Amino acid sequence: MSRKIFPYIRLLLLICGFSLLGLSSVSAKDTAPPLSANSPEAKAFHGSKVVKLRGCVACHAVGGVGGAVGPNLDRVGNRRDADWLRKWLKNPRAVKPGTVMPNLHLSDKELDELVGILSHLKKEVNSATILNSAKSRVEKGEKLFTDYDCFACHQIGRSGMPIGPNLTWLGKRKPETWESKWLKEPGAIQPGTFMPNFHLSEGEINALTGFLHTLQGQKNQELKDWEENIAFSMDSRPREIGERIYIRFGCNGCHGKRGEGGYKNPNAAPAEKSPVINTVTARMSKSDVIDVFMSGRQPAKLDSAGTMPLSCPAWKGDMTDEEAEYVYAFLVSLAPKK
Ligand code: HEC
Ligand code: HEC
Ligand code: HEC
Repeated sequence: MSRKIFPYIRLLLLICGFSLLGLSSVSAKDTAPPLSANSPEAKAFHGSKVVKLRGCVACHAVGGVGGAVGPNLDRVGNRRDADWLRKWLKNPRAVKPGTVMPNLHLSDKELDELVGILSHLKKEVNSATILNSAKSRVEKGEKLFTDYDCFACHQIGRSGMPIGPNLTWLGKRKPETWESKWLKEPGAIQPGTFMPNFHLSEGEINALTGFLHTLQGQKNQELKDWEENIAFSMDSRPREIGERIYIRFGCNGCHGKRGEGGYKNPNAAPAEKSPVINTVTARMSKSDVIDVFMSGRQPAKLDSAGTMPLSCPAWKGDMTDEEAEYVYAFLVSLAPKK
């Protein structure tokens, strides 16, 4: 009995932990869910005994019903095949180290049932109709973004879920050529990435990057207003505000959620990676650190004939001096404790 109950206690603790943290759980899905709660697929999910027993709904929504700790699963069958789903459900941390999704020790029978249900949470994306329509390239891209439910893991402003980087400032930090390589095969740039390969056609990629590249901070104010309404504890306030700003500008898209690095930066000297920045405040003066991301930095090329590596964007003009101070306070807090 206790073996059966244990995972639920752990689950409860996890969820409580999230509400206390107040960070990951303050996620929003302001866009309408892609699937109606009354559709047969949503009913199959919510009606399943295994889903109910295992508490998936505490963390995942289908048809707008359920928690927002993990991505909504409305269109999960469009991005994950049966093999991947089975591997994931069997042991999430073997696929994504550090994920909060627990190993629920599912039996083979439960795995079969879940993989069957999840594979049906899927809808044909009618790309030919979208691409041949009279819409502009940007509008086509925006429609594809919605239909593939990229919002399940990405936010633009406050819409969508913060599983991957917030895309509000994407167009400013990454060039279109990088974006199209990424969409073609995310794993070719970042091996082991959690971002699925959608097997997109050249036409779809062209439309999507056209749209993505227009994301130059138009929804910055929306996020700022939201941040102002978060209640922080007094002593950790500067660091927590700094973390929100770090995520708002998408620093995590190159340096990782907590400055841990590891993100590939093809042809950047010396190691083809964006640098680890969780110890940078111990190595450099405050004004030098702030100057890097306010004025920008272009790393040297490893092979002078090769592609231009990603650079640290210059945020002056977009980020206020006060915001830069908060980001600095966040960076200081990242230094590993001795
Ligand atoms: C404690 C919260 C939690 C519980 C409980 C949980 N998950 Fe998850 N799940 C997550 C998170 C978070 C992710 C995203 C991975 C990440 O960001 O670490 C995820 C990812 C997934 C994915 C991949 C989604 C995608 O978009 O590719 C699937 C499928 C999934 N979970 C299914 C389930 C099922 C089925 C159950 C119940 C058996 C379940 N999860 C229980 C938190 C949870
Ligand atoms: C299951 C979650 C998930 C879905 C769905 C998803 N992504 Fe991602 N995406 C990620 C993660 C996670 C990253 C960050 C890379 C990493 O951590 O390995 C990422 C990174 C990106 C980046 C680079 C962001 C940056 O800050 O540099 C772009 C662009 C992107 N995704 C576009 C898309 C598009 C377009 C779609 C829909 C076709 C999509 N993503 C769907 C998880 C997802
Ligand atoms: C598009 C990817 C990208 C984004 C987004 C990005 N950076 Fe960088 N960052 C880099 C690269 C590449 C370097 C290394 C530059 C060099 O080699 O001189 C760097 C360097 C740095 C450094 C100096 C590290 C050192 O050891 O010298 C700091 C600090 C830093 N970034 C902070 C930030 C902050 C804060 C943000 C968000 C406001 C940010 N970066 C956004 C790519 C990025």
